[in-house]
Amino acid sequence: MTTSPKEILRVEDLTVEFPTEDGVVHAVRGVSYALHEREVLGIVGESGSGKSVSSLAVMGLLPRGARVHGKILYRGDDVLKLPTRRRRALRGGKIAMIFQDPMTALNPVHTIGDQLAEAVLAHGLIPRKQALARAKEMLDLVGIPQAEQRLRSYPHEFSGGMRQRAMIAMAVINNPDVIIADEPTTALDVTVQAQILEKLLEVKDAVNAAIVLITHDLGVVAGIAHRVLVMYAGKPVEIGDTDSVFYRPRMPYTAGLLGSMPSLETSGGRLRPIGGAPPSLINLPPGCPFSPRCPLADATCTAEEPALGEAGEGGHLAACHHWRAVAEAPDPTALFHIESEAVS
Ligand SMILES: Nc1ncnc2c1ncn2[C@@H]1O[C@H](COP(=O)(O)OP(=O)(O)O)[C@@H](O)[C@H]1O
Ligand code: SF4
Ligand SMILES: [Mg+2]
Repeated sequence: MTTSPKEILRVEDLTVEFPTEDGVVHAVRGVSYALHEREVLGIVGESGSGKSVSSLAVMGLLPRGARVHGKILYRGDDVLKLPTRRRRALRGGKIAMIFQDPMTALNPVHTIGDQLAEAVLAHGLIPRKQALARAKEMLDLVGIPQAEQRLRSYPHEFSGGMRQRAMIAMAVINNPDVIIADEPTTALDVTVQAQILEKLLEVKDAVNAAIVLITHDLGVVAGIAHRVLVMYAGKPVEIGDTDSVFYRPRMPYTAGLLGSMPSLETSGGRLRPIGGAPPSLINLPPGCPFSPRCPLADATCTAEEPALGEAGEGGHLAACHHWRAVAEAPDPTALFHIESEAVS
């Protein structure tokens, strides 16, 4: 008998609001997902859709003033209710985060070795020498050559790709169960991106962690994520197995993202971008937030925001009044128009 992997992280109806001078920003409006041991969950959406804010909420790293509601369960414990000390122990211990820009997470005035050793010492009483040995082991693991010497380097002496490797080393140094990687390769050259992603997955397997891989680029999660959650205007609008989401999208926004992927070569390589821009999260229009950009929008859509509901086999969920029409379309990406070709 095979036992299915255990759930380690469950986010339930998470909302995050930022009161600002211009009004309340509804940055995250009800995000729910479950992550299982060793699973890779991709979270995809355009810039501003609430991907980072929802992850910072899980890490307890939101700025003061942010209003957070909902549940974040780590192995059954509600993280939002844990005493500060236990919450700190989780952060950087069992739940680690990798940011887009390693320079925001690395301290420019300390050596890489000191920072890695510090990360170990913050979570366990071990001799410093042992912490440094662990740091070296981690640099080896992430593929930084001459790790022993590199421990004495400062972050600015590393290339962008090397810094991101060091960040990965920092994230896994305490053997986390969950790694939240927020656009880990977005700032890097395309060729380096692929190497870093590959390394991240290798390292994740080495420490037996699960990953939440956040990206604005659907192409990044293809072939990597087991499941994909698509976010729009602070909410999940589609979630399912990666193949289902890529080959059987149920939500026009996902179809639009697929059609704007250069690698997909829809319509003979021509792109079908989604026109327009996401709505303001201060004054959301009534109804479906995607309706101003949606080729299928009708009066039902502008009257009522669709709830995330079953839209196919295997737990495939979508938030769309007309998901059946998307399902029946021979090529859902064709709901969007081909980009007009440049006049030569
Ligand atoms: N500290 C803050 N105060 C006010 N609004 C914020 C703050 N942080 C993020 N936001 C807003 O929350 C929304 C979601 O942001 P974010 O999660 O960073 O998007 P993503 O990571 O998907 O690009 C955006 O509209 C952003 O402007
Ligand atoms: S609910 Fe309507 S507007 Fe929203 S995505 Fe579905 S069809 Fe488009
Ligand atoms: Mg972000």
